[in-house]
Amino acid sequence: MSVPESKYLSPIWRDDIFKGKVIFVTGGAGTICSMQTRAMVRLGANACILGRNASKTEAAAKDIATARPGAKVIGIGECDVRKIESLEAAAARCAKELGGIDYVIAGAAGNFVASIDGISSNAFKTVMDIDVLGTYNTIKATLPHLLRSPSPRLLAVSATFHYTGMPFQAHVAAAKASVDSLIASVALEYGPRGVVANVIAPGPIAGTEGMARLASSKPEQIAEYERAIPSGRFGTVRDIADATVFLLSDASSYINGQVIPVDGASWRRQGAY
Ligand code: HXC
Repeated sequence: MSVPESKYLSPIWRDDIFKGKVIFVTGGAGTICSMQTRAMVRLGANACILGRNASKTEAAAKDIATARPGAKVIGIGECDVRKIESLEAAAARCAKELGGIDYVIAGAAGNFVASIDGISSNAFKTVMDIDVLGTYNTIKATLPHLLRSPSPRLLAVSATFHYTGMPFQAHVAAAKASVDSLIASVALEYGPRGVVANVIAPGPIAGTEGMARLASSKPEQIAEYERAIPSGRFGTVRDIADATVFLLSDASSYINGQVIPVDGASWRRQGAY
């Protein structure tokens, strides 16, 4: 699949801002994380993306590599973020084959729509394990490599549900609150060693798996929902990719330990829907 550059990157960025850098991305074959990675690769980085599905992850890696001639993109499938060993092996392979790890996106997530009493204890635990333990494992496995980088950056992908609470998303809201908290502690603990750690919190982004799982299938309800978004539109993967480029660039090096919603001010109206 060839993706026109205007779909995932504003034309304001300089070509080589990430030249010589390496980015490691969990959930890297997903709609949002693959576009975040594609933008970084287009602007000079090489990348290692991880996923549970081997063929999907390898195909995504090949596709992302087309963003820049000469780009190296490794796809590592059968990597479950709930298992620290598989992340440690992937991080070691990334460092060996690409020369290190400068940036990490912890993007792997699990989600389904279900009421609090409609899910099993194990279902709740599954989402907590993928989102929270998975983010912790990603940090733990990559920190030894990040600490060797001159510009170590961590970016977790969260959500905005937990600011207000969200019906049928209690499991996800609880998990994302923990992700935000984890990243704040990383900034405090490792900021003195040069690590910059932030969270990007996408709002309603069109065309994503999250939206497909969460949104109504009725066009009139979708249109009503879109009209209520203060910025007047659903977000795009380009909105997230552009914000990612900024948050991983030197232009944002004093933004540390923060959660940045990229949501057209949606969460401020969350309770009003
Ligand atoms: C209720 C469910 C369920 C559902 C699974 N379970 N799906 N319960 N409703 N729809 C229960 C199962 O019955 C089981 O509990 C437990 O969850 C574990 O299920 P498994 O299928 O064994 O788990 P696993 O194979 O690890 O799959 C994890 C998953 C799956 C989360 C259930 O959907 C997945 O792999 N998702 C990854 C991709 C994904 O979700 N992407 C969307 C991210 S979007 P029992 O008791 O039966 O054992 C996102 C955005 C959020 O995060 C913010 C958007 C704005």
